[in-house]
Amino acid sequence: MLSQKLVDAINDQIQYEYYSAFTYKAMQAYFEGEDLTGMANWMNIQFQEEMSHAEKMFNFVCETGGKVELKQLDAPRNEYSSVLEVFEETLKHEQEVTSRINNLMDLAQEEKNHMAQIFLQWFITEQIEEEASVGHIIAKLKRIQGDGRGLMMIDQELEKRTFAPA
Ligand code: FEO
Repeated sequence: MLSQKLVDAINDQIQYEYYSAFTYKAMQAYFEGEDLTGMANWMNIQFQEEMSHAEKMFNFVCETGGKVELKQLDAPRNEYSSVLEVFEETLKHEQEVTSRINNLMDLAQEEKNHMAQIFLQWFITEQIEEEASVGHIIAKLKRIQGDGRGLMMIDQELEKRTFAPA
């Protein structure tokens, strides 16, 4: 069982996970427009991951007797000036998610809710991978310094990403 304060806080995060999905779908659209199909694929997988994160939280709230309440989503950003800018925004976004998950864990610990702490542990581990994978892409993009051949090689690499359900 969860306190209403924890239910409200997880509901906010469910909302943010859907917003994240929406943000990555908009980034996919940007890459589709640039004919960077590997990067578009990477963002589409990111979209699917965020949907699965929202689903995981949704189920947790329901299974612990809480009520999920959804709200209207804010519009995502649709325009970017470069590939690097998109991935830098992605990293910033993921750092914000990490901070929000940390806050949720702080609340679960304050309330001594072990069920919620064990549940949130998965998301904390997931954020390590989320930040690291974007960080590697940014490092590669900086290394090629806008070289077209290098960009195509990174694009081909990102084409290989597949979705593994959480
Ligand atoms: Fe649901 Fe990318 O964190």
